[in-house]
Amino acid sequence: MSVGEARHHEAAALHVTGRALYTDDLALRAPGVLHAHPVQAPHAHARVTRLDPAPAYRIEGVVRVLTAADVPGVNDSGTKHDEPLFPDEVMFHGQSVAWVLGETFEAARLGALAVAVDYEPLPSLVTVADAIAADSFQGARPTMERGDVEAGFARSTRVFEGVTELAGQEHFYLETHASFAQVDDDGQVNVSCSTQHPTETQEIVAHVLGIASHQVSVQCLRMGGGFGGKEMQPHGYAAVAALGATLTGRPVRVRLTRQQDMTMSGKRHGFHATWRIGFDDDGRLQALDATLTSDGGWSLDLSEPVLSRALCHVDNAYWIPHVRVAGRVARTHTTSQTAFRGFGGPQGMLVIEDALGRCAPLLGLAPEELRRRNFYVEGQATPYGQPVRHPERLDRAWQQVLDTGEYAVRRKEIERHNTGSPHAKRGLAITPVKFGISFNFTSFNQAGALVHVYKDGSVLINHGGTEMGQGLHTKMLQVAATALGLPIERVRLAPTRTDKVPNTSATAASSGADLNGAAVKDACDQILARLVPVRDRLGAEAGWDEVVRTAYLDRIQLWAAGFYRTEGLSWDATTMTGHPFKYFAYGVAAAEVEVDGFTGAYVVRRVDIVHDVGDSLSPLVDLGQVEGGFLQGVGWLTLEDLRWDSSDGPARGRLATQSASTYKLPSLSELPADLRVAFLERATEDGVVYGSKAVGEPPLMLAFSVREALRDAVAAFGPPGVSVELASPATPEAVWWAIERVRG
Ligand code: MTE
Ligand code: MOS
Repeated sequence: MSVGEARHHEAAALHVTGRALYTDDLALRAPGVLHAHPVQAPHAHARVTRLDPAPAYRIEGVVRVLTAADVPGVNDSGTKHDEPLFPDEVMFHGQSVAWVLGETFEAARLGALAVAVDYEPLPSLVTVADAIAADSFQGARPTMERGDVEAGFARSTRVFEGVTELAGQEHFYLETHASFAQVDDDGQVNVSCSTQHPTETQEIVAHVLGIASHQVSVQCLRMGGGFGGKEMQPHGYAAVAALGATLTGRPVRVRLTRQQDMTMSGKRHGFHATWRIGFDDDGRLQALDATLTSDGGWSLDLSEPVLSRALCHVDNAYWIPHVRVAGRVARTHTTSQTAFRGFGGPQGMLVIEDALGRCAPLLGLAPEELRRRNFYVEGQATPYGQPVRHPERLDRAWQQVLDTGEYAVRRKEIERHNTGSPHAKRGLAITPVKFGISFNFTSFNQAGALVHVYKDGSVLINHGGTEMGQGLHTKMLQVAATALGLPIERVRLAPTRTDKVPNTSATAASSGADLNGAAVKDACDQILARLVPVRDRLGAEAGWDEVVRTAYLDRIQLWAAGFYRTEGLSWDATTMTGHPFKYFAYGVAAAEVEVDGFTGAYVVRRVDIVHDVGDSLSPLVDLGQVEGGFLQGVGWLTLEDLRWDSSDGPARGRLATQSASTYKLPSLSELPADLRVAFLERATEDGVVYGSKAVGEPPLMLAFSVREALRDAVAAFGPPGVSVELASPATPEAVWWAIERVRG
């Protein structure tokens, strides 16, 4: 039995010995490969009045300068057709206006510096606040509504208002964007790309080149992290490589330096939210009226679906009878903000968690009591109308964290500690996660797989999902081995390719294993069904190899294409109602922190997590996802501080945090000293492959516990019952300011 077995990541040994192949490894091995370098604009917003490649050609080793005039198809790299690949209007500081191909990376770099570009600077909007003031929005402006909000407020005895601003996040995958293209003599364009969405990369490459999809094949060996940043953003780089390869007849590699990646690629959306919230005398939520404005950056990209998911998660785990949440996407002159683990869900949830954290003291309730009191119960539905199934799983997870985390005891200890410690205060908080699994856009919930059984009984599988470190391939090997009843060593997995499995969805929304696992299983089941008569004839003693060999001689098809579509889903984006999710993943975390009153510096002392993964397909992989997701959430909420220059000087719009020296990432030292993760038991999810649940994104939001624990610690510096406003990210500096405010 392989499903459910704790196994290392299928490529762990390759990862740690440096032998795992990534896109750029292929490129560097290709004889005659050309290196690409962008010409980045030094303005937040400007018109390109002249672009002269001639000086670049005087640099030794420069082979070709790519400009708009070279594009045979459509000069656009976005699915919304709002992202010119070679723009004549610069929309953000660092945008590439041309690319230079060189014999060496250095030649390409010098060539890019030499390209003569004249700009006419234009007025720019750098912050969401600027955009709101200027009425600069893009895309749909949905409203989600249930009940009668005004009646809800009329019934509320306590009503509060607030503004919550939260910052975005840099993906900082270890492997920056990478693409490598070759055109063979038949005109077939082969692209290797670090992409979560090979099919869409294929489509964009085809559009840019003006050819059909069947002439382009995209493969993804594996990614050194994607985190949503490679769902839509790789397409343009792949198109540049493919265009370069088409024009020169030579292989072309695009591999961004860290600084290029940070200044050119989109990030998690920061949000600005205004809210009004009403409670009854018991602290039960009656009404919520909120407006969420995301910072979409210069183009739409995935901003609309990210916003939808934000609206769908404003409730988090709480029943709110009367709700109205309006959403809009600001257009600013910054990178095009995009998918990032949680896909808007974390931003939506932060709004309600921030409101509850601020209101609890004003209601005279402990935050954990306020949260617990408002949990969904069986029979209730979300604001968009989907019944909340299994809310008792959240109750169980909550209780388990309270019990095994000795929450009540520690609460008392912390009070005692804080009384005797004027300059260092501890804080404790517990927060829930309820996260919808499936793509909101129903059509994306499909997947394909190809399973080959060779005459010697060995098995090769292909599926439409991509591997980015999350362990999808490991799970798929386990699924195939289990479905076929074979030891896992008999199964091998080949890299994701659009010419093997077509029309795939992005590996995203945490649904990779649900969708592709079911498709792999479908293919295996088809093969097994065809083998039944052979097995019957040969008898029980016949082993797999003999059955396969005999089946082949009997001319039985030993390979199959599998397919899966998630049933029972619906979503109406105009009314913002439906049943968009197959199920909800639940989790609970309690965090304890200690804050230094002189500096605002803090440590996370202990974290207890109970997370719901259904029946885990692969417990070690899932544990890694829970720990990694949680810590990435801690980074977003407490450390990572994206800054764009908003001065009126020449650097306006420049990303100020464009390397690891200015952008603080969580590292081992920020890992809680004591981190305890358990999986929720008795949590089999029916209708999903082997009873498992998706795990990729939901744990990120367990990090709210750390933010709320910081709020709790800050409150201890002020008078009893003080309501604490905390910036997001709650960097030590932000925590210090919060302490200053509560000290009065
Ligand atoms: N884990 C690792 N190690 N690296 C990643 O890039 N991406 C996350 C999550 N876990 C990511 C990761 C995101 S944003 C998603 S949507 C899921 O993995 C995607 O994979 P899955 O659908 O197979 O869970
Ligand atoms: Mo994940 S943000 O859905 O790639």
